Amino acid sequence: MLKIVNLEAGYGPMQVLWKISLNAEEGNVTALLGPNGAGKSTTLMSTLGSIKPWGGEIYFEGKDVTTLPSHKKVEMGMTLVPEGRHVFPNLTVRENILMGAYTKRASKLMKESLDLIYTLFPILKERPGQKAGTLSGGQQQMLTIARSLMTRPKFLMLDEPSQGLAPKLVGEVFETIQKVQSDMGLTVLLVEQNVDITLEVAKYVYILHEGTIKAEGTSDTIKHSEDVRVAYLGI
Ligand SMILES: Nc1ncnc2c1ncn2[C@@H]1O[C@H](COP(=O)(O)OP(=O)(O)OP(=O)(O)O)[C@@H](O)[C@H]1O
Ligand SMILES: [Mg+2]
Repeated sequence: MLKIVNLEAGYGPMQVLWKISLNAEEGNVTALLGPNGAGKSTTLMSTLGSIKPWGGEIYFEGKDVTTLPSHKKVEMGMTLVPEGRHVFPNLTVRENILMGAYTKRASKLMKESLDLIYTLFPILKERPGQKAGTLSGGQQQMLTIARSLMTRPKFLMLDEPSQGLAPKLVGEVFETIQKVQSDMGLTVLLVEQNVDITLEVAKYVYILHEGTIKAEGTSDTIKHSEDVRVAYLGI
């Protein structure tokens, strides 16, 4: 569904990504694991087009989308939940969700999407009028994911959804991600530093270090590869 070939990107004079290539297969969860500063967020942002790739190609459903602006990519069915749980704290849960319906396609489907989202996120359905800023960290993460689903994506990129959450909440957020993925038939590209949970939910994993892909394989292969674990995962 998504294919990245020799992607290069950076900021000002500083190159961050050095010809990275990866595939996210339709209907699967694919993950990109790596430590702080490896270039994970840069990969997602250049894939969506919020930063401009320096080189390489990005294909979405077989079409070359490398230079398309991000709003076009969102219209085509791509979306990104950025790092850091950005909710509008003074707006209610319902208002936050509806903020996601900004595209033409999304606004047409707004009512139907809201019902679907409430089914997938019962915790949000219970408190539509609550100010988002007063939700717990896990609930805010659910809310940012829910909001991104209002664009009715086919391809969802998630940037460190487990960041800063207590272990129990990490489990809840990931269960929801898996449910959303299977119920909506989504293709997911997940960026994480949490190795254990990633190897549990992803089918295929890429390991990014200092802007290059150092290893890749099915989660089972990576789990059982002592070399990879010792060299890159610290487990
Ligand atoms: N807006 C920016 N301007 C300049 N340099 C940046 C910018 N954003 C990131 N960088 C640098 O690019 C490199 C890769 O950053 P990136 O955010 O992609 O890493 P990451 O793998 O997502 O890390 P983390 O796990 O901490 O989120 C780092 O050296 C970072 O300092
Ligand atoms: Mg990041």
